[in-house]
Amino acid sequence: MHPVILAIESSCDETSASVIAHGKVINNVIASQTVHHKYGGVVPELASRAHQRHILEVVKESIDSAGMEPANLSAIAFTRGPGLMGSLLVGVSFAKGMALALGIPLIEVNHMEAHVLAHFIADPKPTFPFLCLTVSGGHTQLVKVRDYLDMEVIGETQDDAVGEAFDKAAKIMGLPYPGGPLIDQFAQQGNSKAFSFPNTAMPGLNFSFSGIKTAFLYFIRDQLAEDLSFVEKNRNDICASFQAQLISMLMQKLRRAANETGIKQIAIAGGVAANSGLREAIRAASVKHRWEVYIPDFQYCTDNAAMIAMAAHYKFLQDKFAMQDIAPLANLPIGV
Ligand code: KG4
Ligand code: ZN
Repeated sequence: MHPVILAIESSCDETSASVIAHGKVINNVIASQTVHHKYGGVVPELASRAHQRHILEVVKESIDSAGMEPANLSAIAFTRGPGLMGSLLVGVSFAKGMALALGIPLIEVNHMEAHVLAHFIADPKPTFPFLCLTVSGGHTQLVKVRDYLDMEVIGETQDDAVGEAFDKAAKIMGLPYPGGPLIDQFAQQGNSKAFSFPNTAMPGLNFSFSGIKTAFLYFIRDQLAEDLSFVEKNRNDICASFQAQLISMLMQKLRRAANETGIKQIAIAGGVAANSGLREAIRAASVKHRWEVYIPDFQYCTDNAAMIAMAAHYKFLQDKFAMQDIAPLANLPIGV
């Protein structure tokens, strides 16, 4: 059977819906929440309220613009976790209600697996096995992908995610949330060797970003004590230097994972995969190490329902449906 699936994503601060028909993503409707900008991070209570306000409209637009009726749907998919509990609850409850009303099955999707499976939305697509560096606001993982629904985390951050390091550094510099894209923008005009930040790597394939985040805070504090306009005068160079160190820490572990596993197909995923410096570093490494690299379109890097739809498609083909009493899980590990 060739399914038509409606997928809903609501794990953090994007309310998104997508229709996938016969394995092809038809659309990817996203309502981004702007309410968090001034707080320097996502405020969970405000996020769930915004999801509640947007979800009906986003789902309706996705079904309508696909030229479909709810009766055409074979299943409803949703992000079960990981994510913010209140945000997840909005998507899960909506999906459950809709599936029950239409008498069709539910499909639960792991948000981190979906980030990896975003690579199957458009060409070129990796073949198995491949390595995926998944870098977002909540996670930093090295994933060995054996098949669509068979993946293993072989390294991950022991504290903060790399996206959080970007966002916190931006906040320290007085920039709005999310700061990652702004740091990326300023970094493009800066000198990456102007300032140095510590490499706070962990042993093996694990990462740590809390140390460099704190080092950044102290660096800015000390510089401001000398010159109140330090950040203003040096913003591009600070961003370029900080970003370069984060990328170098990511690339160091990615190279190690490629060496240890012997896998030369390398992918990046998640919001930080939109970073122009990281995309460039991956392209350079592909030449140097003869890797085949896979970099998703920008719209499939940050949170979106198209990746949830793609994951749901493979689950549908393997009859992996969820029970009607399923609940969200804020800490849902890959492979559960
Ligand atoms: O995957 P995502 O949309 O949401 C989570 O699942 O967390 O990732 C959001 C993260 C934020 O930390 C944001 O600052 C970061 O991705 N981000 C970037 C860029 N675009 C988004 N970080 C650096 N450079 C970018 N261009
Ligand atoms: Zn995400």
